[in-house]
Amino acid sequence: MSRALLHKEIVLGVSGGIAAYKAIELLRLIARAGGAVRVIMTANARSFVGPMTFEALSGRPVCSDLFDRSGRDAAIRHIDWAQAADAVALAPATGNLIGKFANGIADDALTTLLMAATCPILVCPAMNTHMYESRPVQRNIERLRSDGHRIIPPGSGEMACGTVGPGRLAEPPDILYALETALTPKDYRGKRVLVTAGPTREHLDPVRFLSNPSTGKMGYAVAGAAARRGADVLLVSGPVTLAAPIGVKTIRVTSARDMADVVFDRLAETDIVIKAAAVADYRPRDRADQKVKKDDRAAHQSVAFEKNPDILKTLGERKNGRILVGFAAETERLAAHAVDKMTRKNLDMIVGNIVGGPDSGFGADTNQATFFYRNGDSETPPLMEKTDLAHLLLDRIKERWL
Ligand code: CTP
Repeated sequence: MSRALLHKEIVLGVSGGIAAYKAIELLRLIARAGGAVRVIMTANARSFVGPMTFEALSGRPVCSDLFDRSGRDAAIRHIDWAQAADAVALAPATGNLIGKFANGIADDALTTLLMAATCPILVCPAMNTHMYESRPVQRNIERLRSDGHRIIPPGSGEMACGTVGPGRLAEPPDILYALETALTPKDYRGKRVLVTAGPTREHLDPVRFLSNPSTGKMGYAVAGAAARRGADVLLVSGPVTLAAPIGVKTIRVTSARDMADVVFDRLAETDIVIKAAAVADYRPRDRADQKVKKDDRAAHQSVAFEKNPDILKTLGERKNGRILVGFAAETERLAAHAVDKMTRKNLDMIVGNIVGGPDSGFGADTNQATFFYRNGDSETPPLMEKTDLAHLLLDRIKERWL
């Protein structure tokens, strides 16, 4: 989980559509990420969800009436809220709300708050497909986008009214992701970061290969975190089941040699290389073009291997002022192996971790890592989520070299 929402004031603007109930889940996700939420509803939204639900979950009064003077903080509430907000999320945003916001109409508490807000505003449209695709709505969305607001496009699927197409509110976790991105400082803007992730596969024949259990989670977390922080990120990924992180250009490869080709090809456009991939050191010398059939002789066959290129070592030889970060997954003598790799491969830093435990290494969501630096320093942060570790790694790179 990113720390971007911790102690941040988020205004959740809810307008009247079927998807209003999904705002409840969004509220909970924001609160779980450490954000303090204030809900402001349109009059129509109250027909779908009662303010009591939002009040109970946010622990704060809900505003829906421009002239509501009740409650402790009633004084011109919408203006106070607009000024205190770090971000506003409009979820769901109906065609009507989008139309008013895009055209500067402020005739209720929510639209008045929008006019007064100076923080990032996320607009999450949700409406019937034909409404969504209509010219006025598309025109208004375009206008909001060119005014600098972030549009979180709706998903496609079967709508409550039976039509099929775009118009479903984006999923709450995706809206949360966009909110966190909006609130993440862009301290990597202008930096070009190349990340490798996942395993490689070294084929024996078209249907069999040698590989390792890397799931790519660490590398994907680094790529996603760097993109959120404004970097221009290229992710070169071995075969994994993860979706490409939002905002990251992703190239999928299979073997170590494929990975090497892409990495060397893109090196000239790279300032920082973070090599989280678990690259196979060897490949079968011979690869059969067709599936190898079993026969009795096969039981006695052995496989001859040849060495794969050591991508990181070659990068170390062509360093040219770049920052190079490696990973070392070890089962024993972590410091000795990791530092040896850092020196041999001419790296600035290496992230070591002991694999085999349930909380760390292949497939886990958390990682217990140690950072080793070129100047002999080392540091062992506590066990943490891979996303948090990714941000910490970027913090350290920035502090030391950027
Ligand atoms: N690496 C690489 N190319 C390879 C092997 C490894 O770029 N052919 C990179 C990995 O991405 C990682 C670092 O080198 O960042 C260390 O990988 P590891 O496999 O632990 O190192 P090896 O040098 O292969 O050492 P060993 O397998 O003997 O432990």
